[in-house]
Amino acid sequence: MRIFLIGFMGCGKTTLGKKLAKNLNYNFIDLDTYIEKKTNKTITEIFENKGENSFRIIERESLMEVFKKDNIVISTGGGTPCFFNNMQEILVSGKAIYLKMKIKDLLERLETEKSQRPLIKNKSVKELESFIRNKLSERESFYKKSDYILQGKDICEKEIQNLIL
Ligand code: S3P
Repeated sequence: MRIFLIGFMGCGKTTLGKKLAKNLNYNFIDLDTYIEKKTNKTITEIFENKGENSFRIIERESLMEVFKKDNIVISTGGGTPCFFNNMQEILVSGKAIYLKMKIKDLLERLETEKSQRPLIKNKSVKELESFIRNKLSERESFYKKSDYILQGKDICEKEIQNLIL
């Protein structure tokens, strides 16, 4: 089985994905880390040197590669499901779980974690809040296609295991 964790930047996909994979005895892939290893560049470097469009193409290629693996938990990037027909293909390839979080909780987390994220790294708190609000409303229709939706900032791996097994 392939389990995809879906959701906005800062919703906890990577932390939760690692724990879930460990419990299930599955492998774990963080799609951003996979891209960084594959290209030997950081996500920020790819955005800065090649632009977002190129990043989205590399992201899609990487997703296709991940589809070939089994018994795996994949934490996707916040934008992954929203480009090309990535979300439809994710749903064909495995189970998708949307980790839904309130704007104020995302803001709290992203404020302290924004430096590694090219889309938000130079934003003030106010700008960040309106960015989250706008992007989330643009992206939620994709996220909501997931097989399961879990809400809150204290979602634990056990909840996911109970859902999917
Ligand atoms: C992005 C989210 C990031 C990363 C890139 C773009 C986005 O992943 O893929 O910075 O468009 O939301 P995380 O959701 O893991 O931060």
